[in-house]
Amino acid sequence: MTHPQGRSPIGKVVVLIPTYNERENLPLIVSRLRAAVPEADVLVLDDNSPDGTGAVADQLAAEDEQVHVLHRKSKEGLGAAYLAGFAWALDKGYDVLVEMDADGSHQPEQLPSLLEALADADVVLGSRWVPGGSVVNWPIHRKALSLGGNVYTRMLLGMPIGDATGGFRAYRASALRAMDLQEVASQGYCFQVDLVWRAVRGGLRVVEVPITFVERTIGDSKMSQGIVRESLLKITMWGARYRLAQARSLIRKEPKWHRLDV
Ligand code: GDD
Ligand code: MN
Repeated sequence: MTHPQGRSPIGKVVVLIPTYNERENLPLIVSRLRAAVPEADVLVLDDNSPDGTGAVADQLAAEDEQVHVLHRKSKEGLGAAYLAGFAWALDKGYDVLVEMDADGSHQPEQLPSLLEALADADVVLGSRWVPGGSVVNWPIHRKALSLGGNVYTRMLLGMPIGDATGGFRAYRASALRAMDLQEVASQGYCFQVDLVWRAVRGGLRVVEVPITFVERTIGDSKMSQGIVRESLLKITMWGARYRLAQARSLIRKEPKWHRLDV
């Protein structure tokens, strides 16, 4: 991965890490990441965590010039935090933007395989639900929710993607610029599906690589009923719009009925 100028062949990489109450996890994940992919910069996106994660992030940034922090006023959801981070990183001229959880579920040691795949893709999804991918230590209800959510997403949106809900991924800056991010309204974890859906509809090259997702051992998941509700509602709405447009197109016998702008 390492290149003479400290840049990987795909350009300058920044890893965005959203945090909400991850005080203990953050230093662990940042040091693993800096060891695994030293050329990548880091941007922590903290939503003013009550446990003081923001101050921990500031400390890490003071010790390492490749670590940066974006402090946000309050908890506005994963989607809003990432959108602010993307805007920051695109403005700074990074070529590759990576999404990664702070809690150790996404292993920095697997990031090189995502970045390698980006050589022939616009978006690379770290995927639990393709051959070689797996989840370690998830209770059965989380597995069912993730698998069920992905089957539902495939059925409604017609995308042949195994894991559209995961949050370990790499985007080319050019791909994000093509995605009309100013229109994204997803707050919670359906943000992830929203972005894949935009990439696929935009004709971008989306590739999945297997990852091993390891459930956190420190702190708590922020998954909530509200997040599940928003996902179900949004995916159903996008799917209904898409399938209606397809039906209309089939009635008119249009040859491109399966690829529609909706
Ligand atoms: N800034 C910010 N604001 N960060 C947040 C917020 C928020 O409102 N909500 C969650 N996070 C951060 C957490 O601190 C963590 O670093 C990461 O987002 C994932 O949160 P978890 O709560 O640990 O998610 P999970 O393990 O239940 O995750 C599933 O959904 C994630 C979101 O798409 C997995 O499928 C992940 O792969 C996926 O990223
Ligand atoms: Mn987690």
